[in-house]
Amino acid sequence: MRPTTGGRRVVLGVGGGIAAYKACLLLRLFAEAGDHVTVVPTAAALRFVGAPTWEALSGRPVSDGVWDRVEQVPHVRLGKEADLVVVAPATADLMARAAHGLADDLLTNVLLTARCPVVFAPAMHTEMWEHPATRANVDLLRERGVHVIDPASGRLTGADTGPGRLPEPEDIHAECLRILAAAPKEPTGSGGAETSHALADEPGAGPLTDLGGASNLRGRRIVVSAGGTREPLDPVRYLGNRSSGKQGYALATAAAARGARVTLVTSASLPDPEGVEIVRIETARELQEAMRDAARDADVVVMAAAVADFRPAVYAESKIKKTQGAPGEDEPDDAPVIELVRNPDILAGLVRDRDALAAETGGARRRPLIVGFAAETGDDTGDVLHHARAKLARKGCDLLVANEVGVGVTFGRDDTTVHVLGPGGVVLAEAGPTSKAEASAVVWDAVEEALRG
Ligand code: CTP
Repeated sequence: MRPTTGGRRVVLGVGGGIAAYKACLLLRLFAEAGDHVTVVPTAAALRFVGAPTWEALSGRPVSDGVWDRVEQVPHVRLGKEADLVVVAPATADLMARAAHGLADDLLTNVLLTARCPVVFAPAMHTEMWEHPATRANVDLLRERGVHVIDPASGRLTGADTGPGRLPEPEDIHAECLRILAAAPKEPTGSGGAETSHALADEPGAGPLTDLGGASNLRGRRIVVSAGGTREPLDPVRYLGNRSSGKQGYALATAAAARGARVTLVTSASLPDPEGVEIVRIETARELQEAMRDAARDADVVVMAAAVADFRPAVYAESKIKKTQGAPGEDEPDDAPVIELVRNPDILAGLVRDRDALAAETGGARRRPLIVGFAAETGDDTGDVLHHARAKLARKGCDLLVANEVGVGVTFGRDDTTVHVLGPGGVVLAEAGPTSKAEASAVVWDAVEEALRG
């Protein structure tokens, strides 16, 4: 399986509070968006949630001290390379140490070397949050540009309630995405941003080397289609398929997390991904129109939708009724025969017309890179890859993501197996069975590579 190399480098600092377990969920949210998360707990945090949990969830080694893997200089490298440092939960003690520039463990070292946005999500008892010492430390951190999220109000560890609860992981994640979107767009480690970097402010801290972590999807316009089309037969019935739209949503979420401007053209009813423009469609012809519209100024178009190849030739304006037999008679044999006609092949049409579509923007844009999907089962005439290669040739797209489908396989499920094919049917990357988020990361890595080429 090809390793994931794209996405942001996130350092997740974890302070020693009971809310440390919620940081596991925050880690998952970043990981599912294709980000690379390194967890740096404090020694106290490890008494609440142990290193094996963090290592299993992040897939990376975990340490709280500066004496492990010294040859890699992690106390400097982690902070310098990070695109984001988020500390959740941030305890009163940890904020005090950070505010005063102490460097007595790995996390405080990371905080002193970070030049990226730094976010603290505090959690503590109300008395500690309201204590003048904590207030002064929070003010000091904020003055230096650290984003300190106000804690939520509600039930605390014991019977007490009040401000001091760790905000929900989804809210912290959303706040981080908002802060990243608003942060200057310099590549990782450029050190050029004036205010949002914050903690380390040593004189003479010059520009850092570009360590190559910034995604080249950042700022790009990406259009993703998702879900199965519904072809109406009458006002209450339609022809549809088993696609849930989860893969398209995972792709859109991951692209937005890499800093792309994403439009999701969808028939699915899943929660809207954060920071993504949504265009709702139902039929193949609506999808075709929406895709052609959005593709005009796109850098990348991904057809992950499961398009119905055929639609009913006639739409009945009122509900098709079955005739009732007279009382005592057998039911009449009046089952209707539904005539179907072909739907347009949207992907092939986009490939055929992409130069003309790009030219409609006044020639200001390059033709978009087009990625197709191939839902294959394999059969007597060939396996999944055989059919996918034939489809790539037939459709003419730049990349084709083949995935194995069938009842209980991929459709509607949270895991998938994908093979990314490039020109000539060469397998560029493979993943699975894995989460659709991880599969998305593999697809976007391949797209980034193709864009570079
Ligand atoms: N596709 C499309 N328009 C269609 C059918 C499919 O744009 N009318 C796109 C899909 O979004 C996908 C790719 O073409 O990116 C392959 O879809 P798939 O259903 O696997 O292939 P089909 O072209 O429908 O061929 P077949 O069903 O015969 O395998």
